[in-house]
Amino acid sequence: MKPDLGAATRGRILYGGDYNPEQWPEETWQEDVRLMRAAGVNSVTLGVFSWAKLEPRPGEREFGWLDRLMDLMHDNGIGVVLATPTASPPPWMGHLHPDTLPVTEDGRTEWWGGRQHFSHSSDTYRRYAAAITEDLAARYGGHPALTMWHINNEYCTYDWSEGAAARFRVWLRAKYGTLDALNEAWGTAFWSQGYGDWAEIHTPRQAHYLKNPGQVLDFKRFTSDMLLECYVAERDIVRRATPHLPVTTNFMPLWVGQDAWRWAEEEDVVSVDLYPDPRDPLGAQNGALVQDMTRSQARGPWMLMEQAAGPVNWRGVNHPKPRGLNRLWSLQAVARGADAVCYFQWRQSRQGAEKFHSGMVSHAGEEGRTYQEVKQLGAELAAIAPEVTGRHTPNDIAVLHDWHAWWAGAQDGRLSNRVDHPDLLRAWHRALWEAHLTTDFAHPEHDLSAYRLVVVPQAYALTDAAIENLLAYVRRGGTLVSGFLTGVADEDDRVRAGGMDARLRELFGIRTLHEWWPLDAGEHVECDGFRGTLWSEEIDKTEDAEARARYKGGELDGLPAVLRSGRAWYLSTLPEPAAMRDLLAGIAAEAGVRPVLDALPEGVEAVRRGELLFVLNHGRESVTVEVPGGHRDLLTGAALKDELTLGRYGAAVLKAEPDAQAEAVLAP
Ligand code: GLA
Repeated sequence: MKPDLGAATRGRILYGGDYNPEQWPEETWQEDVRLMRAAGVNSVTLGVFSWAKLEPRPGEREFGWLDRLMDLMHDNGIGVVLATPTASPPPWMGHLHPDTLPVTEDGRTEWWGGRQHFSHSSDTYRRYAAAITEDLAARYGGHPALTMWHINNEYCTYDWSEGAAARFRVWLRAKYGTLDALNEAWGTAFWSQGYGDWAEIHTPRQAHYLKNPGQVLDFKRFTSDMLLECYVAERDIVRRATPHLPVTTNFMPLWVGQDAWRWAEEEDVVSVDLYPDPRDPLGAQNGALVQDMTRSQARGPWMLMEQAAGPVNWRGVNHPKPRGLNRLWSLQAVARGADAVCYFQWRQSRQGAEKFHSGMVSHAGEEGRTYQEVKQLGAELAAIAPEVTGRHTPNDIAVLHDWHAWWAGAQDGRLSNRVDHPDLLRAWHRALWEAHLTTDFAHPEHDLSAYRLVVVPQAYALTDAAIENLLAYVRRGGTLVSGFLTGVADEDDRVRAGGMDARLRELFGIRTLHEWWPLDAGEHVECDGFRGTLWSEEIDKTEDAEARARYKGGELDGLPAVLRSGRAWYLSTLPEPAAMRDLLAGIAAEAGVRPVLDALPEGVEAVRRGELLFVLNHGRESVTVEVPGGHRDLLTGAALKDELTLGRYGAAVLKAEPDAQAEAVLAP
């Protein structure tokens, strides 16, 4: 059995974050552990960017400082998530071995001096990465402070170098076997692109005009696979040394370069870094989406590896979190399945590129509001941990998402570059969030039988297996709602006959898809009862299908905007948010899915996890929420009957208690 997050949490919620003590004199370390203990920090991630410190010259090792830190953490009861430092090679590597440096699309080298300047395809890089990983595993595998391994950091590089081209050819040979098969899949008959020799194939470098979409699509798959090979190589090394300890690498939310479904299968713990903008009115919804996706990838508890206690420093304007928001968003992550709430980083840096990025201890130090709030949250997480950790609550709704469909659909040469796959995911997930419906994510080929409702915001390319899966799901009684541009292409990005797979057209009751009518920014189409945005379609329906809403006026007057055929629904436009919310809420109700609580005020989120009910007020005004029955709030200890008042950014973690007991407490 693979070790899971429980091997590291041991019933606690992991609380802490990236700790970069090499930036500080050793006296500060003592101060750090004092403040960590006071804040309930029980986990730190060490060594993420320590390669130059650990290996100052090729093959040399300097472990003394890390030995002292590992011991210090252990002496203070703080577990260590130990990172392999391979996201940022030391300067000597690029200097001595230019083949370790990645090359951009237009052939320029990415130099050291920043980070993530490694070529995933470089044998030299991979050799050095394996060697330092071996030595870390050998030295610290038996250290009592070690709880988990963190491989690299936010794998996200692309590489168009000669080394990458060589590996790309190997990857393509394994995929296609023959050049004929590759030429066929890439449609190279178009524009005289036929390949006569494997050596002619390069990465899709800068070209005069639109590139071959098949080549670009395979290059995205290849990039995800190469990074995954780097991860797996390091994972296997640490796994050999410590088979009982879990291994992770931290994802960026909805990062385009990684097929995270595939990656998650290779991880013991799925972890993510999440930084919603405190000023974004949809920050809570966007956070919930990432949390739902990460939980679904983990199929259980997951780790919030990084968040910011205050501002980040990489947006144009970087806002701090108002009082209470860090607590609220942390509890939201726990509600949606996190068993670890961690930050980048422990102590705010005074030098380097991220000195204006917040830390758990800000420049203001112990007295600063940031640390004081971090400390309060640490105590609260410890209080709720016994009732929370290890609990996994599946939902009745799944949102489908597939990286390959995203990659295929996001290419140049389309009808509208305004159609953005993540934006569509957000629009659909937001509609469900606003309808107080909680949801999982799933891949189109996953077993969907446990869900009452499956929604497909957009799946431009679908394999035959995925299409059959969707058909079987509806045949067995599931309700399916799909957005436009679904099932347009196969996995090679070859447009299906009729512009959309015939089986899906039949399922949704589309007789003919005549033309797509994309909409400009600010343009909308009137439909019965709502306005459509972004896209519209000229479709004829089959006799049996029902047009639940039609276009009104304009070229498409009278044609179906929302089409229903049995339990299959098709939206040929994107309804405005309130209409989208009402539409999905209605379909969910018909499919037998109820909101977590009825009559929730706007901006209040209710989520069940195990026995607990989390109620979160994302608004700036106090609200009173009806929560039928007797409950105890595990955060305050208060007993409640039938309703609950939450202040601005207020949160409650409720456990049902027999009414009599609740009333007895409330009576005075
Ligand atoms: C990412 C990285 C961290 C840090 C933060 C800043 O998540 O993993 O090292 O750069 O961003 O927000």
